[in-house]
Amino acid sequence: MKISIIGTGYVGLVTAVGLAELGHQIVATDKDLTKIYKLQAGIIPIYEPGLEELFKKVRAKGLISFIPDLATAIQESEVIFVCVGTPPLADGSADMSQIEEVARLIAENLNSYKLVVEKSTVPVKTSYWIKRTINLYKKSEASFDIASNPEFLREGSAVQDFLHPDRIIIGVENERAREIMLKIYERFQEKIIVTNIDTAELIKHASNSFLAMKISFINLMANICEKTEADIEKVALGMGLDPRIGREFLKAGIGYGGSCFPKDIKALTRIGEELGVEMGLLKEAHKINEDRIRLFLEKVRKALWVIKGKRVAVLGLSFKPNTDDIREAPSLKVISELRREEASIHLYDPKAMDNMKRIFPEDPPNLVYHSNLYEAIKGANALLILTEWDEFCQMDLDRVKNLMANPIIIDGRNIFEPEEIRKKGFEYYCFGRH
Ligand code: UDX
Repeated sequence: MKISIIGTGYVGLVTAVGLAELGHQIVATDKDLTKIYKLQAGIIPIYEPGLEELFKKVRAKGLISFIPDLATAIQESEVIFVCVGTPPLADGSADMSQIEEVARLIAENLNSYKLVVEKSTVPVKTSYWIKRTINLYKKSEASFDIASNPEFLREGSAVQDFLHPDRIIIGVENERAREIMLKIYERFQEKIIVTNIDTAELIKHASNSFLAMKISFINLMANICEKTEADIEKVALGMGLDPRIGREFLKAGIGYGGSCFPKDIKALTRIGEELGVEMGLLKEAHKINEDRIRLFLEKVRKALWVIKGKRVAVLGLSFKPNTDDIREAPSLKVISELRREEASIHLYDPKAMDNMKRIFPEDPPNLVYHSNLYEAIKGANALLILTEWDEFCQMDLDRVKNLMANPIIIDGRNIFEPEEIRKKGFEYYCFGRH
């Protein structure tokens, strides 16, 4: 099938490459033309494991192309996947202006039947607004349908998630749209669940909010562990072995970040409230997460007493391992605070340093980026671990101890066994463990 993809961020690009791998003919576009020119030249503007290889493969087969002109992309395809951003507004609701703009452009270029597929995470009822917008602005008699097909891929394993989905949710309101969507995902037939559009939209927000809530729950238990003799890793194991609870997403630490959980939990809270539903449960989950940074900094102060003038190494700038994405990463708030308190900050991340430099430009000797983790920790009074990259979990602790001025580790991700690391001579702080 001929499919256009509007928006080539993490979701749009993985969807474009993934759908091409399923054998469809993809034309992708973005209003950020520098991205399009890079992609035309064969350069992937983000880091996502496996994406480059798959991109090269589908590109060599001629299944994917990138064009700057959105009108042409719309006119030439029957199916349009909308993958533009829905960032949070100050009040927590999702900013729908990019979706609205795309809806207007689809209306203006409606030259034949189109199926408009919402791929970006959108609030329940968005399809109503897209439909209304297209009807208001369209100039031809051509018909169109809306479908919701929420994306569940995780950054860092997005390509694998696309190619091996747990489920594919398709929200449609008629047979024509249903048949097109089933054809697109023919290869994953047994994974498909067809619902109405409101349900599909809500499944996405509900899934992300539930997972965020699960993390906040275990973090709340970690707080109790810290006041008692309990150990959060064992609590999580003991809980998680109950299949109704499950082992995943029970890792306590500095809290969730990224472009989805913080935004989606706030957006669902807003929608619920607008609909007159009491949303205290989600508000509390968000509040617990916000408090993680304060608790982490409290540990840093407990270890260092005065932060001013201390040399602090910070490992892990992305919001989680295997991505260069720093959106809503705990590192942003931690670095801001360390800067405010005038620490000398030494940073290292395997992939996210270029992105971080745009927010916190190099400012030696107060803020320095290093090309490897051992350089970053040389002479440090404390080492802060903010994401659990493999490279950090496997670091040579004897070497680390020799390089640091004071062997103090404040671990936001519980990557070490407290007893073992203390035996090696470190002063060690983590969440919910003794
Ligand atoms: C998430 C959803 O998992 C995915 O289905 C959806 O499409 C987009 O949002 P992503 O944001 O890429 O994906 O990351 P995810 O792996 O879910 O982690 C989110 C955050 O939670 C990270 O900051 C991670 O460090 C944190 N986390 C995760 C924990 O703190 N503890 C855990 O047990 C699990």
